[in-house]
Amino acid sequence: MLPLRRAALWGLRRDHSRALSLSPTHRDAQKGLVLGVYEQEQEDGGPSFTESAEAFDRSLSGGLRELLAVSGPALKRGKSRIFYGVHKDFPSVVLVGLGKPSAGVCAQESWDQRRENIRAAAAVGCRQLQELEVSVVEVDACGDAQAAAEGAVLGLFEYDELKQKKKTAVDARLHGSSGAADWHRGVLYAEGQNLARHLMEAPANYVTPTAFAETIQQRLSPLSDKVTVHMRPQSWIEDHQMGAFLSVSKGSEEPPVFLEIHYRGGPSASQPPLVLVGKGVTFDSGGISLKPSSGMDAMRADMGGAATVCSAVVTAAALNLPLNIVGLAPLCENMPSGKANKPGDVVRAKNGKTIQIDNTDAEGRLILADALCYAHSLNPRAIVNAATLTGAMDVALGSAAAGVFTNSDWLWDHLQKAGAVTGDRVWRMPLFQHYTRQVTESQLADLNNVGKYSRSGGACTAAAFLREFVSAPHWAHLDIAGVMSNKDEVPYLRKGMSGRPTRTLVEFAAGLSREV
Ligand code: BES
Ligand code: ZN
Ligand code: ZN
Repeated sequence: MLPLRRAALWGLRRDHSRALSLSPTHRDAQKGLVLGVYEQEQEDGGPSFTESAEAFDRSLSGGLRELLAVSGPALKRGKSRIFYGVHKDFPSVVLVGLGKPSAGVCAQESWDQRRENIRAAAAVGCRQLQELEVSVVEVDACGDAQAAAEGAVLGLFEYDELKQKKKTAVDARLHGSSGAADWHRGVLYAEGQNLARHLMEAPANYVTPTAFAETIQQRLSPLSDKVTVHMRPQSWIEDHQMGAFLSVSKGSEEPPVFLEIHYRGGPSASQPPLVLVGKGVTFDSGGISLKPSSGMDAMRADMGGAATVCSAVVTAAALNLPLNIVGLAPLCENMPSGKANKPGDVVRAKNGKTIQIDNTDAEGRLILADALCYAHSLNPRAIVNAATLTGAMDVALGSAAAGVFTNSDWLWDHLQKAGAVTGDRVWRMPLFQHYTRQVTESQLADLNNVGKYSRSGGACTAAAFLREFVSAPHWAHLDIAGVMSNKDEVPYLRKGMSGRPTRTLVEFAAGLSREV
C-alpha cells in the first residue's frame, strides 16, 4: 500500500496526464515553471521552499515535495531537477537549488551570495527548459525578482545569429504578481549586458567601428527625446588633434569613428555629467608588433570597454536614471600595414604630450589618451573608463573581478558597492608614482607606451600611462581584460564574451544618481 500522500500524488499525476492528453496543444506543452528550493540548514532538516514553490506545492497537496524527496538526493545550490506532467498549466516544472537560506552579503567575497545564488538558479532552470524547446517560462522571484530576471535573461543568451540552427527563443516571465518592477529592472540590466555580449562576440568583419556606432545609435533611437548620438568621422578626429588615436586607426582600411552619446536624465541640462569612456578596438591584431595567431580571434572583443560603457548608457536611459551621462568610444582597428605605426614612432596626443610607441600592441592606451583629454572638455562630474587594456590584468586577477585604478576614494566606494550588488565585482589596484616613472622615461618623447620593465606590473604601468592624460579629481580606469570572456566561471553566463561589467556600470550610475 502506498502512503496516503504518495497515493494522492500519483492520483493527481494521473489526472494531469489525462488533462494533457485530452488537450495536448503544442502551446500548453511549451510552458514551463522554475521554482526555488533552499538547502537544508541542518543535516536532518528537509528542504525549504520559496514562497512561490510553497504555494505551488500546496496546490498539488504537497505533491511536489513528495516528488522531490523520492527523486534523488537533496538539491544542491545551482543544481536542478525537472518534473513533467504535474500541473495542467505547466507541463514542465524545474526545481532549482538556491543554497542556504541564510546566504547574504559576504564581505570576504565582496558580493551578495544570496543574489548570486538566485541568478545561478534562475539561469540553470531556464536553460534546462530552453533545451526542451519550451518557449514560455515563468520564473520564481526567489525573494529577489531583479536577481531572478538577471539570471534568466543572462542565462538564456547565446550568440547564434550567424548559425542556421538557433536556440529556442524563450520568453521568461515573472511567476506571480509581486515584484514586477524589480523583475523589469532586472530584465533591463541583463538586456544591457546582453547587448555588450552581442557586440563583443560578433565577428570583427560584422562589428566594424561604423557598424558598432550604428548599432548603438539604433538602440538609442526609441529614446531620442533624451538622448543625442554623434558619430564623429575621421575629419572631426583630425580637427580635434587626436594624434594618438589617429596613429592607431591609420593602419587599417576601416575608417575610425569617435562615438559620443549624451543621455539627459538629470534635473537640468547643466548638471555635470558622468563621463564614461570605453576602448573600442574592434580588432586588435597587435599591428606591426603582431600578436601570435593562436587565440587572436578573441581580439574581436577588444572593444569590450566601448561595448560595456555604451550598453550601460543605453540601459541607464531605458531605466530613466535621473542623471546626465556622456558615453565616449574611440572606435578603430589595430592592423599591420604600410601605413601602420612602427615601433619607435612618436605621436602627439590631444593635450600636446608626445608618445614614443615602442610596442604597437599597446594601442588601447593611445586611443584612450585622446578620449580622456576630450572627456575633460565636458565638465565631468566624474570620468570612468573601461578597457580590455592588458594581458597582465588577466594574469593578476583572472576573471574574478575587474581591476580599478582610481584617484578617488569616493569613486572607489561607489564602484565597489555596485560590484557587490551585481556580483560583477571590482578590485582596487595601485596608481603609484613607482609606475609613473616607468612610462615617463622615454628616449624620444614625453612618454613611452610601454613600461621600462615591460612585463612587470603591466596593468599598473598601463594605468599610470592613462593617468598622464587625467587632471579630473574623480577618475577611475577599469581594466576589464581578465573579465572579457567566460568559460564556466560565472554560472549564469554561457561560454563566450561576457559583456562584463555592464551591470556594475549601470548600478554605479544608479548609485551616483541617488547621491545629491
Ligand atoms: N587588447 C590587448 C590586451 C588584452 C589581452 C585584452 C588579452 C584581453 C585579453 C592590448 O591591446 C595589448 O595587447 N596589450 C599588451 C600591452 C603590452 C604590449 C605592453 C599586453 O597586454 O600584452
Ligand atoms: Zn594590443
Ligand atoms: Zn588591445
